[in-house]
Amino acid sequence: MKMTSAVLAVLAVTLVAATLHAQVEERPIPHIVKKDGRFALFVDDAPYLMLGAQVHNSSSWPVSLPKVWPAMEYLQVNTVEMPVYWEQFEPQPKQYDYTMIDTLLTEARQHRVHLVLLWFGTWKNGSQHYMPEWMKLDPGRYPHMVDRDGQAVDSPSPHAAASLDADRSAFTAFMRHLKETDPQRTVIMVQVENEAGAWGSVRDFSPAAQKLFEAPVPPELLTAMHVKAASASPNWLEAFGPDADEYFHAWSVAKYIGQVAAAGKAVYPLPMYANAALRDPFNPGPPGLPGSTGNYESGGPTDNVLAIWKAAAPALDVLAPDDYQNDPASYLKVLELYHRDDNALFVPETGGPDNARFFFSALGLQTIGFSPFGLDYTHRAADRSLNQADASRPQEEFLTPWAMNYKLVGPMQREIARLNFEGKLQAVAEEQGKATETLAFGSWNAIVSFGAARNNRGAGNPKPAGRALVAQLKDNQFLVAGYSCRVDFRPAGTEQQRKSQHIVEGTQQNPSALIDGKWQHRQFLHVEEGIYENGVFKPLRLWNGDETDWGLDFSSGPVVLRVSLATY
Ligand code: DGJ
Repeated sequence: MKMTSAVLAVLAVTLVAATLHAQVEERPIPHIVKKDGRFALFVDDAPYLMLGAQVHNSSSWPVSLPKVWPAMEYLQVNTVEMPVYWEQFEPQPKQYDYTMIDTLLTEARQHRVHLVLLWFGTWKNGSQHYMPEWMKLDPGRYPHMVDRDGQAVDSPSPHAAASLDADRSAFTAFMRHLKETDPQRTVIMVQVENEAGAWGSVRDFSPAAQKLFEAPVPPELLTAMHVKAASASPNWLEAFGPDADEYFHAWSVAKYIGQVAAAGKAVYPLPMYANAALRDPFNPGPPGLPGSTGNYESGGPTDNVLAIWKAAAPALDVLAPDDYQNDPASYLKVLELYHRDDNALFVPETGGPDNARFFFSALGLQTIGFSPFGLDYTHRAADRSLNQADASRPQEEFLTPWAMNYKLVGPMQREIARLNFEGKLQAVAEEQGKATETLAFGSWNAIVSFGAARNNRGAGNPKPAGRALVAQLKDNQFLVAGYSCRVDFRPAGTEQQRKSQHIVEGTQQNPSALIDGKWQHRQFLHVEEGIYENGVFKPLRLWNGDETDWGLDFSSGPVVLRVSLATY
């Protein structure tokens, strides 16, 4: 038999992979589990909380990786999101270059972090800018979308069979390589495409797309959207009226990406997700209409078309918001919209130092991960000019609000993930005008207040920065941690007593409640400050009366308390 060099190369890779497998212990494949209405990402067969950061995506790895790691270390991440570019991966048709992926795997292992790899394939920010050159130069075969006026748009057509074939093959080769070279599961999740959809037009108006638009809507979508139309097989306009163009594009993009994801998953079933360039959750403008106020990318997994994406792309485990909203109410609304019974909350991109505290809000909605974007160049003074933040601000000011989150949660990340999956954890971030939050835990209420002074409950911090998490360890024992807040506990009675409404909250020095005519006062049995080591809480010191008389105050240092309570 005559061996071509291609066959020899494949044999060599297989041999290397087989040897690797023989040397490295094969770990369980990460997967997403849903139980009692809550989701968790399982890594090494236990709930895992991604404390992530996404590196700036215009990097070229050999040059930029050394700059990435100091920032990742400063942030104390456990997972790094890194892009893989189709154009680099497949420089010539069907010739795949694995060197970048191998570099990322090696470096991530050296730095003891997991990876989420981002497949920048057909779509990146709504365009096909990361398609290989041989595709870009053949638009007849790999076409752009066409707008209402017949003009080409800077966005790929989701109706291009050759583009889908090429993407599917490349993505499958990428996943096969991961399967062969990553038995230790350094990569725990894969993003399929990036912010898919179109900015320049609500949908594709090419003849091929138009034909489908005028044909009957696929019956599975009618069922998913609970459509009641006059005819049994309505076309898009009949089924969806004014939303028809947008829904058609969402279905088309999701169907395409669903097929890419399914092909990769058939080879190696890692969890997969698609990320969304959001629309304003309160006042969205029109989809895909450049120049209009509030316009947004049409066809991506925006909050109004999540059901379409779920029906079209079941191979995607999660639809995830890139939450850059500047207004706190919008930021929090987005978290709520993507925390659904059919969707785990995951924040794969976020930004703005004032939003760092909302990591705790995401935790309160059982997020499986959180990942600020583009912090990678910021740790070195020399690179400040490359930073997306204002270069005049000192780097620590920019990084610290994010680093604080992971510094606090990092040492107990597995416990936090498990407690959250078991429904025992609640967490909040400070909102302007809301100085107090009450978290109900059966017979106790945890009261979180912001800006509290010695003898008052507080009116909020001068700049909202407070954050707190409380988890119930036993009936009368809680794990408490946070920044810029005070936490205390008040008796809440039994379920029966709460139902009978014979409870009056007292205003004594210690939080109290008049329950069925009898006063119950909160008493601290002990308040232990400590750290988690290998999953076990190690007490370091006891808080004394001076530290507990007014409630438990958290400032800007990472403090974890185990609080044991009683009543008298
Ligand atoms: C969102 C995109 O998903 C990222 O890849 C990156 O382009 C950021 N925007 C830049 O802010």
